[in-house]
Amino acid sequence: MEKILVLDFGGQYNQLIARRVRDNNVYAEILPCTTPIEEIRSRGYKGIIFTGGPNSVYDESSPHYAKEILDLGVPVLGICYGCQLISWMRGGEVKTAPVSEYGKIEVTADTKSLLFKGIPEKSIVWMSHTDYIAKVPEGFSVIGTTDDCPCAAMENRAENIYAVQFHPEVTHSEYGKQLLHNFLYVICHCSGDWVMDDFIENTVAALREKIGDKKVILGLSGGVDSSVAAGLLSRAVGKQLTCVFVDQGLMRKDEGDFVEKTFTSLFDMRFVRVNCQEEFLSKLKGVTDPEEKRKIIGTEFYNVFWNEIRKEADKGFFAQGTIYPDCIESGKGDADVIKTHHNRVKMPEDIEFEGVIEPLCDLFKDEVRAVGEKLGIPKELVWRQPFPGPGLGVRIIGEITAEKVKILQEADAIFRDEMAKTGYEKQLSQFFAVLPDVKTVGVMGDHRTYDHLIALRAVTTDNFMTADWAQIPYDLLAKVSNRITNEVDHVNRVVYDITSKPPGTVEWE
Ligand code: XMP
Repeated sequence: MEKILVLDFGGQYNQLIARRVRDNNVYAEILPCTTPIEEIRSRGYKGIIFTGGPNSVYDESSPHYAKEILDLGVPVLGICYGCQLISWMRGGEVKTAPVSEYGKIEVTADTKSLLFKGIPEKSIVWMSHTDYIAKVPEGFSVIGTTDDCPCAAMENRAENIYAVQFHPEVTHSEYGKQLLHNFLYVICHCSGDWVMDDFIENTVAALREKIGDKKVILGLSGGVDSSVAAGLLSRAVGKQLTCVFVDQGLMRKDEGDFVEKTFTSLFDMRFVRVNCQEEFLSKLKGVTDPEEKRKIIGTEFYNVFWNEIRKEADKGFFAQGTIYPDCIESGKGDADVIKTHHNRVKMPEDIEFEGVIEPLCDLFKDEVRAVGEKLGIPKELVWRQPFPGPGLGVRIIGEITAEKVKILQEADAIFRDEMAKTGYEKQLSQFFAVLPDVKTVGVMGDHRTYDHLIALRAVTTDNFMTADWAQIPYDLLAKVSNRITNEVDHVNRVVYDITSKPPGTVEWE
């Protein structure tokens, strides 16, 4: 399979670059800029992309790279910081720009360059830089300019080295898609062999070979990733696969039954469901601190899960639905941990497996979904919105009780029902109900009530790092509010959360 390397210098769009390459049916992988050159050489890439990054190339502490990478004979494309780095590596001049450019800017391109093939001379690109290339290195020529940037793009055609100051990977760059296509197909001569049908076929064959006649155990959560991993493994080894589904009683209304029905009717596998709401609630009794709740739910989940696995006489392999973004080692250290999330599972020492299998570890989320659809997994699961591991536990503020879980499940089901009926759910990235630890006074008939409050939350976002609250039409909110107060016992008030992230987070805890 042909591969493109995205060499990560810490820019915010780095995963996006890899995804855009894959959108062109070419496999891309991201490696940190600390990866040794020998390793890069040995991996046989068709092309290399240097990403953007927050630093200035002339600072000694900034991430640099071995100059030999430009002599590998592999085509290179530098983007933003990557563009300046190429200039710096080859003896050009990079300095603080007299005018920083940020946002949509018109670029004038040399349309004779292979990089700009089929792109108009003038187009809009997305810029975000404070340094610029004041003088291009020897052997390079300028192939793009803007009013304030004398070198918005440069090339060394003889050596197949190209660089752009702007970001072709973001949609604001009008012809960014074409530019990346040119790099991949015209400059790197890729053929486009990364297609999902082939992926399924190759993965199923590789899984069969690796697993042989052994068993596999997978923890199924009902989320997209573990569901698709289950689908692939089932196709590969059928009944040799055991899926363990721990239902802690903190899922949405009827969700546990839906997951069980889907997997037992659609796929050939052993399905083990463990119902343990009572155990969870007793561990959570009296606990109100959000992080402590998360910790208890996480710990208890794995206790139940591993105990179930200990019962399996023949364990074989352990499979996980880990996806590519969970595995990437970033070029620039870790971002701040705001809340504890789980990705890879830590295994207890007393349980021995033949090995670990991660059939989705090369895929981005949208690719996982594409595979899921091709495997025939229902749309409700494949397009399921994100759902936190601790489930409704982080949507019930304060102590969690069985009564509160029921109230929240009913209110949430009404919200989802109305959003689905009107089709409005398609416009939202995530939406759900929250049960705050608040009671308020109301009136029903002639009676005073003192009952629970439900908060509705709906957001739109590209990446969940930031999010906007969704401007759901008032009549739709009115319908949801009306139904919740009429149909859900012990709720007498509904409010709508109008906080973006930041300063809020998507979940309330
Ligand atoms: P926040 O609340 O951090 O949420 O803005 C961002 C996205 O992450 C989901 N989320 C979680 N997912 N385990 C998960 O697997 C968790 O503990 C968790 N907490 C939040 C959240 O639903 C949103 O999509």
